[in-house]
Amino acid sequence: MLRLKNVSKTFTMHIRGGLVIQSFEKVSFETRAGALLAVTGPSGVGKSSLLKCVYRSYLPTSGEILYATAGGDTVDLASAGEWEILRLRHTEIAYVSQFFHVMPRVPALEILMEPLVIRGISRSEALGRAKEMLSRAGLGKNLWDMYPATFSGGEKQRLNILHAIIAKPRILLLDEPTASLDRAYKERIMEMILALKREGTGMVGVFHDRDALLALSDTRYDLTLGAYCPVNAKDAGEIARGDC
Ligand SMILES: Nc1ncnc2c1ncn2[C@@H]1O[C@H](COP(=O)(O)OP(=O)(O)OP(=O)(O)O)[C@@H](O)[C@H]1O
Ligand SMILES: [Mg+2]
Repeated sequence: MLRLKNVSKTFTMHIRGGLVIQSFEKVSFETRAGALLAVTGPSGVGKSSLLKCVYRSYLPTSGEILYATAGGDTVDLASAGEWEILRLRHTEIAYVSQFFHVMPRVPALEILMEPLVIRGISRSEALGRAKEMLSRAGLGKNLWDMYPATFSGGEKQRLNILHAIIAKPRILLLDEPTASLDRAYKERIMEMILALKREGTGMVGVFHDRDALLALSDTRYDLTLGAYCPVNAKDAGEIARGDC
């Protein structure tokens, strides 16, 4: 469903005399429908930048990101035009950012209905589905008409995840989706992600949280090593001894 071939990203800092920062280099992996590939590596190695390149918030410096669309075409997300990217974001590709940027002065319920309304679902059906999702994630009625800017970190994160999954995307990119959730909510959210995976969504995820990594991942790509690794290898030592 998604195949990366030699994807690299550098940042050129013009305000610092053209200093070039290498974020990640020559990443190649693939993931299929109904499976989650975890991208791991220490802080600053380029995990978030990689997801942003797939979502095309960042333009990759080189390489190909080949995506097999619902319509049967193959689109290179690294070079596709802006309109094509926008269309895919509205219909097939969703992203949970590491840090939630809330839309100002839009109530939570409206935010959650938006991905459904964009896909042509009626407002009344969207309203019903949004309310049901909010309740399942423990976001009670008292929050529905509130602006998420006032939400707690965990409430914002749950809304962020619901916004990405409510319309059942074909590809879901998850950047630390459970980082600020307590155990009970983490389990509810993980259950929702697993349910979506069973329905065939292909996923790429980043998790510092080991429980989430083990529970959700089918394969793992280590950015430091530039190679696939066993999901359950605990540390680099184990990886070095073992079966990458
Ligand atoms: N917009 C940007 N401009 C310049 N440098 C950037 C930009 N975005 C990321 N970087 C740099 O790219 C590198 C990788 O950052 P990134 O956020 O992808 O790391 P990460 O692996 O997700 O780290 P963490 O685990 O802490 O979230 C860092 O050195 C960062 O400073
Ligand atoms: Mg990150």
